[in-house]
Amino acid sequence: MFFERPEAGSRTLLIHVQQRGSALASEEELKELAVSAGLSVVGCLGSRRQNIHPGTYVGSGKVDEIKTWLSEREPSGCSAAEEPSDPPDEQPHGKRASLVIFGDDLTPTQERNLEKLLGVRVLGRTGLILGIFAQRARTHEGKLQVELAQLEHAASRLVRGWTHLDRQRGGAGRTGGGAAGLGGAGETQLEADQRLVAERIKRVQARLGRVRRSRELNRRSRRRSQVKTVSLVGYTNAGKSTLFNQLCDAGVYAQDQLFATLDPTLRQLDLPGLGKVVLTDTVGFIRQLPHTLVDAFRATLEEVANADLLLHVVDATAPLRQEMIQEVNQVLAEIGAENTPQLMIYNKTDLLGRAAQTEHDQEGQPHKVWLSAKAGEGKQLLLDALAQRLTPDVIETSITLSPKEGKVRAKLFALGAVTHEATAEDGSLTLALRIQK
Ligand code: GTP
Repeated sequence: MFFERPEAGSRTLLIHVQQRGSALASEEELKELAVSAGLSVVGCLGSRRQNIHPGTYVGSGKVDEIKTWLSEREPSGCSAAEEPSDPPDEQPHGKRASLVIFGDDLTPTQERNLEKLLGVRVLGRTGLILGIFAQRARTHEGKLQVELAQLEHAASRLVRGWTHLDRQRGGAGRTGGGAAGLGGAGETQLEADQRLVAERIKRVQARLGRVRRSRELNRRSRRRSQVKTVSLVGYTNAGKSTLFNQLCDAGVYAQDQLFATLDPTLRQLDLPGLGKVVLTDTVGFIRQLPHTLVDAFRATLEEVANADLLLHVVDATAPLRQEMIQEVNQVLAEIGAENTPQLMIYNKTDLLGRAAQTEHDQEGQPHKVWLSAKAGEGKQLLLDALAQRLTPDVIETSITLSPKEGKVRAKLFALGAVTHEATAEDGSLTLALRIQK
C-alpha cells in the first residue's frame, strides 16, 4: 500500500498549530476533523507557527514535550484532552497514543524525522483530510478521485523521500553504500514504489477519464431537456447528505435511463409544486482543501458550477459558521461558481430549539431557510422556497386579439409587456409578450 490511512479508533494526540488570521484554524476544528476521521482523540498540545523548524516542524523542546506526553502513563493536564476510554497501560509500547497529527502540513522530511524521534506514526493536515475523504467517498468516481489524490500525495512524498535519504547518507549518492538500516534493497524498493505509484496514477486517470466522459454526456442531455439542477454545497458536517436524503424522500425518484448511473449523489426528482429537478450532493468543503483534492474533484465540482441554484447548507450550531460560509464561497470562486445563485440553508434548528422559518430578501425572494434536515422540520418551507427561486421570473407568451380588443392592447403596451406585434389580414393582432412576475 502506498498510502496509509489512519486506522479508525487510533488513539491520537493532536498538535494544534496556532495561526494568525484564521479563526477556523482552531483546536476545535482540528479535533472535529480527527473525530470525523473516526480517530479517538486522547490529547491536544499547542504549538506556535512562527518558527518552523525545517527538520521537525517544531523545535527540540516541543519534540521532547510530545515525547514525554506520549510516554507518560497518567493523563496530563492538557486542556483539549478527552480521557481515553481504555487504560493507557493497554496501549502498544505503553504509549498513550499511536498517532500524532499536526494541524498544519508537514514536509516528508519532517514527518519522517518526527516518526523516528517519537516512535509513532505522524501525519500532517493533508494526510488527515485525505483519510476523511477516503472514508466518505460514496461513488465509484468519488473513490477514484480520492485514490488519485492520495496517490499524488504519496508520489510527492516518495520523490522527496529520496532527497531526504540522500542527505542522510551524507551525499553518498543513489548508487553509493547505504546508511545504517537503509541498505541497497531499500533504495530499490523506493524506486519500485515510485514506478508502481506512477503506473497506478495512470490507470486511475484512465478510469476516471471514462467515468467523466459519461458524466459529461449525461450533463449535456440534462441541459437539452432543460431540467433544473440544484446542487448542495457546504462545509463538512453541515448536513448536506442528510438534507439530500430528506429531499429524495419528499419527491418521487424519477428514474430514467439518463440517471441510471447508480450514482447516489445524483437524483432526478419530481418534487411537489416544482416538477422535475436534478439534485446533486457534493463533497464537503474544508478550510485549505488540499489542492490534490480540489483537482481530483474538479469534474464533480463542475456539477456545482453548472447548477441553476446552490443550496448552501450551514451548520447553524457551529460557532464558526460565518468563517465556514466564507471558506465555502472561496472554494466556489475557485471553481467558477461564485455567481451561481444561492439559497442559504441554516440546518440543525432542532439543536437550537428554534422553529423552521424562511427569510426573504428585499425583493421578496426567499434567501435563507432555517430547518432541521434530521427531524424533517421545515421541509415544506424548503420546497416552497425552491419553487419560488427556480420558477422563471419572466413569463414569455403570445396572445391574439380581435380588432375590438383595443383596450387590452393599450393596457399591455402601457405595462411594457409587448415585445412584438403582428397584424393579420382579418385585422386580428398577435402580440408577443414578456411579463415580469
Ligand atoms: P460531509 O460528508 O462531511 O460533507 O458532511 P455532510 O454535510 O454531508 O453532513 P451529514 O449529512 O453527513 O451530517 C453530519 C452530521 O450532522 C451527522 O451526524 C448528521 O446526523 C448530523 N445532522 C445533519 N442534519 C442534522 C439536523 O438537522 N439536526 C441534528 N441534530 N443533526 C443533524
